[in-house]
Amino acid sequence: MQVARWTTFATVAALRSAAVDFILQSAEAAINARGRFDIVLAGGSTPKQIYESLRRARTDWSKWHIWYGDERCLPPEHADRNSKMASDAWLAAVDIPVAQVHPMPTEHGSVEAAKTYSLALQGLAEFDLVLLGLGEDGHTASLFPGQQWESEPPAPAIPVSDAPKPPSDRVSLSASRLSQARQVLFIVTGAGKKEAVRQWRNGEPLPVHAITPQAGVDIFADAEAAE
Ligand code: 6PG
Repeated sequence: MQVARWTTFATVAALRSAAVDFILQSAEAAINARGRFDIVLAGGSTPKQIYESLRRARTDWSKWHIWYGDERCLPPEHADRNSKMASDAWLAAVDIPVAQVHPMPTEHGSVEAAKTYSLALQGLAEFDLVLLGLGEDGHTASLFPGQQWESEPPAPAIPVSDAPKPPSDRVSLSASRLSQARQVLFIVTGAGKKEAVRQWRNGEPLPVHAITPQAGVDIFADAEAAE
């Protein structure tokens, strides 16, 4: 059962600023408590400006560890890679040690990349913060309605071969691995997300519902999406 805390913002600018504060507070709490901050990044276009704002943040970047919730199977420098977007918008401009940034190696294909990423995640029990988006059809990360959100046997990262949102080949963290997190923040903007938000709130069977961390999830939505 998912505990969901919805916050609606009048403008996207207000939402972005609150999201940056949320991320930095989460980082500070994790670094103070455990000396490191493990964050999972969302892909898509919504988080780009939030990532750009993080370039100017005052934090101890040497304690940040960057993971990805999903990735598209494309060459590393392809403009549609989630890791490329995050790097251009933010990561290339701050001093996070290279060994602490973990892109999914999807250039090797979804099956191989999912195996490699599952191994890389061994030993990390919980993420501190997972950032996620919401697709217009209710998908999150690369977990799509009507498809598998876990693999058999269960693995942290799973290959996705027929995603309705291009490209069709992707890798995603499973719903259960995304749920192993102290905090989860969904960032949802724009009128195009209205129907998915309605379905989510009505309890319809969307992948977002399978994200069930113990502490619940926070959802930051703008007025257009949440209306
Ligand atoms: C991806 C995603 C995906 C995304 C949503 C929202 O790689 O496509 O990680 O889950 O977050 O589709 O995408 P937008 O922010 O572009 O609307």
